[in-house]
Amino acid sequence: MTTRLPSLLLVGGGRMGSAMLAGWREQGLTAAVVVDPSPGAAALAGDGVTVVASAADIPAGFVPEAVVLAVKPQMAAEALPAYARFAGHAVFISIMAGKTIHAVGAMLGVKAAVVRAMPNTPASVRQGITVAVRSAHVSARQTELAQDLLAATGAFAWVEDENLLDPVTAISGGGPAYVFLLTELLEQAGLDQGLPPALARQMARQTVIGSAALLAASDEEAANLRIAVTSPKGTTERALAVLRADDAWPKTFREAIQAATERSRELSG
Ligand SMILES: NC(=O)c1ccc[n+]([C@@H]2O[C@H](COP(=O)([O-])OP(=O)(O)OC[C@H]3O[C@@H](n4cnc5c(N)ncnc54)[C@H](OP(=O)(O)O)[C@@H]3O)[C@@H](O)[C@H]2O)c1
Repeated sequence: MTTRLPSLLLVGGGRMGSAMLAGWREQGLTAAVVVDPSPGAAALAGDGVTVVASAADIPAGFVPEAVVLAVKPQMAAEALPAYARFAGHAVFISIMAGKTIHAVGAMLGVKAAVVRAMPNTPASVRQGITVAVRSAHVSARQTELAQDLLAATGAFAWVEDENLLDPVTAISGGGPAYVFLLTELLEQAGLDQGLPPALARQMARQTVIGSAALLAASDEEAANLRIAVTSPKGTTERALAVLRADDAWPKTFREAIQAATERSRELSG
């Protein structure tokens, strides 16, 4: 079933903004304006999507129901005040890492209805996951609009405690990068073992793709799917023993997620 998506203003059509836009397009986005000054952004136009270089160029009659803020956090102070004029009716959805609801509200007017959301790039193929928190100024109707928009790019969940957005940023916001690094490392390890480059690449990619598809198709826990590959005294068991020796992967992952969570907190400071 397709949901009617709200009329949308997307501020920042870069990697994450364009990934979400691709997901919305698949879901039948009707009216959208993208503000992005970079020359590459023009390619996002078409199928009801207009691209302009600055807030001043937004067509006069365009009244967005939702404004998605997808610029880099360090651009926020310069970019956001131009959108305060929509604060009377639109819900603002900020996907900027580490920018608190309070900080975004301060740039748009304290009464602005702000949703802080953390998506990830699989949104472009509607396989993302977005976790969001909303300010007290967001009405029931705006909550519904924001949820329709964010759930159109994949899985979606609300949280009540804004502090949880820091570990969310570390785990699902950045998570695709860790999976892609794993793909790169598998390919490199294949090369090191003498596999032909094209085959090493294909094996690494298809193993990650196939494992994700199996996880999606199965009701089993990830641990059980792992155990199903691991024959006692076999080759996989030997590899897993290396990955877990001295707590290697578990420790590295805990530390990596801790570092990213702390960075998200620093950005909010
Ligand atoms: N990438 C991810 O996986 C991911 C995941 C979750 C959340 N996020 C968040 O998403 C936001 C965008 O990240 P990104 O990776 O998509 O960055 P990005 O690729 O650099 O995209 C930002 C875009 O905004 C444009 N821009 C700069 N100033 C602007 C302005 N005043 N008005 C409108 N557009 C402007 C940039 O153009 P120029 O290149 O010409 O400066 C660029 O096209 C960040 O706040 C980040 O924390 C990203």
